[in-house]
Amino acid sequence: MRLTAAKRSAETLNRYDSSRELAGARRSLSVVVQEQREVEVGVGPRAGAWPADPRLDPQLLADGDRRNVVDQYRYWHHDAIVADLAQRSHPVHVAIENFTHDFNIGSVVRTANAVNAASVRIVGNRRWNRRGAMVTDRYLQVDHDPDVTSLLDWAAGRSLPVLGIDNLPGAVPLETYDLPPACVLVLGQEGPGLSDEARAGCQDVLSIAQFGSTRSINAGAAAAIALHAWVRRHVFDQLPAPAAPVGGASLRARVGR
Ligand SMILES: C[S@@+](CC[C@H](N)C(=O)[O-])C[C@H]1O[C@@H](n2cnc3c(N)ncnc32)[C@H](O)[C@@H]1O
Repeated sequence: MRLTAAKRSAETLNRYDSSRELAGARRSLSVVVQEQREVEVGVGPRAGAWPADPRLDPQLLADGDRRNVVDQYRYWHHDAIVADLAQRSHPVHVAIENFTHDFNIGSVVRTANAVNAASVRIVGNRRWNRRGAMVTDRYLQVDHDPDVTSLLDWAAGRSLPVLGIDNLPGAVPLETYDLPPACVLVLGQEGPGLSDEARAGCQDVLSIAQFGSTRSINAGAAAAIALHAWVRRHVFDQLPAPAAPVGGASLRARVGR
């Protein structure tokens, strides 16, 4: 059914005469196609009598629900899912600098949705590459800050500490840092990393331990690790590890090599 919609949209693309309209139509088509790629997940039409629940969408009950949502939300109206997520969201926000159209942003948004972070803030360019988000941006709050000052003002207005995530000189290890319950984790972008301005506004900058030859991991992976550290600390109440890392020779001795 969605594939038919995608074909219809493709056929009508030619009818647009302004490039702005065409760009909008192309964006809509890419959302339909992206959702279509996930057509194999989900459930078919709901059998038997439908429960009387205003959160349920009669259209989805009748046609089936092929969206990439957890089973708990099957057949729910989109707005009902968004409202439910919002009322139980975690007080951690993620910000990412986007001055060079970083391709990792979609993956950051998807992870933020999985963690049910309170919001994602895109700092710099408003437009970002949605591909890696897999439509998850439709389920959580994604806001825009035109510059770092705007992000810092927004955080200060809510008394939220801003913590940089980067392995820049002066960074302290994330692994031994006691993350605050409500905070903003700000990531830099591929190439330049966290800007000097963002760094100056951060309470601390936190580095993720690395042991290989690469200078860094990608921002999407870094966001996932940092958000998971927050989950371990504040959902599972796990205190950070002691400051002295066990590694190198003592770890090899432990495993006998
Ligand atoms: C590819 S890195 C930026 C380049 C990096 N500064 C360099 O010197 O090569 C992109 C972003 O990912 C995050 N990141 C990458 N590796 C990290 C690490 N080991 N610890 C914390 N954040 C990291 C940071 O937010 C960083 O700004």
